[in-house]
Amino acid sequence: MKKLLSLLLPLLLLLSGCGSQPPQVPQLTRVGFSQLGAESDWRVANTASMMESLSEENGYELLYENAKQRQANQLAAVRNFIVQGVDIIVIAPLEETGWDAVLQEAKNADIPVLIVDREVAVEDTELYLTQIGSDFLTEGLQAVHWLEETLKQREEPVNILHIQGTYGATAQLLRTKAIEDAVDAHENWRFAGQLSGDFTESKGYEVVRDFLAEHRDIDVIYSENDNMTFGAMRALDEAGIRYGLDGDVIIVSFDAVHRALEQCMAGKINLCVECNPLHGPRVDELIQQYLAGQAIPKQIFVEEQVFTPDMLTAELIAARAY
Ligand code: AHR
Repeated sequence: MKKLLSLLLPLLLLLSGCGSQPPQVPQLTRVGFSQLGAESDWRVANTASMMESLSEENGYELLYENAKQRQANQLAAVRNFIVQGVDIIVIAPLEETGWDAVLQEAKNADIPVLIVDREVAVEDTELYLTQIGSDFLTEGLQAVHWLEETLKQREEPVNILHIQGTYGATAQLLRTKAIEDAVDAHENWRFAGQLSGDFTESKGYEVVRDFLAEHRDIDVIYSENDNMTFGAMRALDEAGIRYGLDGDVIIVSFDAVHRALEQCMAGKINLCVECNPLHGPRVDELIQQYLAGQAIPKQIFVEEQVFTPDMLTAELIAARAY
């Protein structure tokens, strides 16, 4: 009997949990992510990348809010994250201004803030940890440089229809700066029109359709994102205006999402300037660096490139994640 008890005791202790350590439940990092909207293919890819990286599997509890292109919604979301006491707040800001007060509130609550994609223009840059996104001015300059090369033999006027993204967003401000500076620098370049398409396909279509009802003399469309470009292409099709490699209008577009690269390969878009939306893994890495107490650069730009029809193949496009 004694022998039997001595054999059974360890097993009974194990089953009753006595003498063993309580199971270790891994601590999740609570992240509040305020996304500005779902206005474009780019944005959808960006949200997917963030969600995939800030997953429970990767050690996060993600509180996600879509602001539907309204800054007031973003401010409310951030305040809600503060009330909930998250560990970190990530903001993809709609526009640059209007952030000082809410970022100060986050700082007062000791919650670090990471800015992703577009920038914020605040007096005190200590209000946020870091900003990671695209170098939107370089993107614009790449487009301008390509246009200069393409049009260098041309002496007649170049009429540019400029379709702009959401006013006040870094992607709009800096892509606009690049083309406005270029128009100032070239005697024969002029704007046929500057229209706001709010980075959406429907708005891009509407403003170009209405514009073409009055004016048809355009040589270039400089469109600040692919979705507005798709809308513009539809309006051009309806107006019977040919564009792309074999057409009368050169199309320059920003983002280089799958659909745009396919249109570029087909010769309908002359130049696609890449804007990389895959920030999820980079944000994850930055959060881990922050939690480990490592130094983090104040601004990080991602690498991007441009595409022309001759560079593209179906395999290359299929191999890209967005
Ligand atoms: O801020 C990045 C821009 O926002 C992308 O060019 C655009 O497609 C998106 O809506």
